[in-house]
Amino acid sequence: PKEFHKNGDSQSIVRSTNDIRPGEGGVISRGDERIAVCRDTDGTLHAVSATCTHKGCTVTWNNADCTWDCPCHGSIFASNGAVIHGPARKPLVPVEL
Ligand code: FES
Repeated sequence: PKEFHKNGDSQSIVRSTNDIRPGEGGVISRGDERIAVCRDTDGTLHAVSATCTHKGCTVTWNNADCTWDCPCHGSIFASNGAVIHGPARKPLVPVEL
């Protein structure tokens, strides 16, 4: 479906948290680390590791559902990293920005 491509890996990579608007998310790089960052509608940033806890793919932001979705096997995580849908069983790891 269209949404899958729209939220594909390369397009969810952003340069900095400044590029993330309220209610949206994106993946930033810090060294080898990829960090999944989303911004609340009140402007607060939430950061978790972008590495899926199933087999290590990079999650992508799903703006329609405000979730982090893994393109590899379909795991879905809440914006705070909690598992909504497997096969991942552990939440995305919190990260300090
Ligand atoms: Fe993410 Fe398998 S690596 S669901």
